[in-house]
Amino acid sequence: MKVILDTDPGIDDALAFILLRAMPEVCLQAITTTHGNTTVQKCTDNALKLVELLGMQDIPVAEGAHEPLVKALSVAEETHGDTGLGHAVLPSAKIKAVDSNAANLIIDLVNANPNEITILCIGPVTNIALALLKEPGLRKKIKNVVSMAGTIHYPGNATPSSEYNVFCDPEAFDILLRSGIDLTIVPLDVTYKCLFTKSHVERLAGAKEDIRNFIDRSTAFYMEFHAEYQGIEGCAINDPLAAAILVKPELVTFRDYYVDIELHGEFTTAKLSADHFAATGKAPNAKVAMEVDVDGFMDFFIERVKTL
Ligand code: RIB
Ligand code: CA
Repeated sequence: MKVILDTDPGIDDALAFILLRAMPEVCLQAITTTHGNTTVQKCTDNALKLVELLGMQDIPVAEGAHEPLVKALSVAEETHGDTGLGHAVLPSAKIKAVDSNAANLIIDLVNANPNEITILCIGPVTNIALALLKEPGLRKKIKNVVSMAGTIHYPGNATPSSEYNVFCDPEAFDILLRSGIDLTIVPLDVTYKCLFTKSHVERLAGAKEDIRNFIDRSTAFYMEFHAEYQGIEGCAINDPLAAAILVKPELVTFRDYYVDIELHGEFTTAKLSADHFAATGKAPNAKVAMEVDVDGFMDFFIERVKTL
């Protein structure tokens, strides 16, 4: 399975990097970075550091959008720390990002591999939107997009009604929703059931020491955020669930929904609405993960990480 990872690392993004490294079923074609959890410069720096931690130096890293299509830049350093990786510290990367920007690299790789590439989006989808705006025909050549995004019934984590990736660039997500691309959405409804705790860190005993230490230190910060800001024990590992679904879709239950997005609400901008009862009469435009086998996912994550 050929995959481009579009990401804003970010603590849970980093866990997705680690899981992807332990998924030989996935052949990563590129890693593209975007603004989101922190600035795109820090996200790119973190991506390069993670690539070196995981021995993935053969995978090109391309820096992407510095800011959203329309709204002002948002960052979430209270959630992910000022470096974007919580309490974890990784050595400065020796490797550099490629010269191409993210949107151009996505366009080139999809054109070179028509109908073969899955784009796993685990941050704001600005890069995908820019690629589609630059080359509208690309929408017919992308095999599918899997996006950790949005919330259907669960409370928003960015505003009361919006999830952070969509909140960061709602106009970009609107372009993706209207693109006609085979779209899978992995919302907070399922990711916030996947709470990674200290007991899961303990279950990683025997895993590669530098990886286990990274997971421990990065998620420690993430757990502090969830406790202080959301009253939650543990931390929602949103992005690794989206990655896991690539090879174990049976971990979740999907519903086909027509999904729309609010772009002009006074309180609800970036809210997704899923047409559960087909009230709009519009055909579904997304497959939405609405239930998850939490233990099955956590076991998968821990077992795979221990193979590294
Ligand atoms: O709302 C959760 C999402 O926003 C995750 O992808 C997290 O990394 C942040 O980007
Ligand atoms: Ca992310």
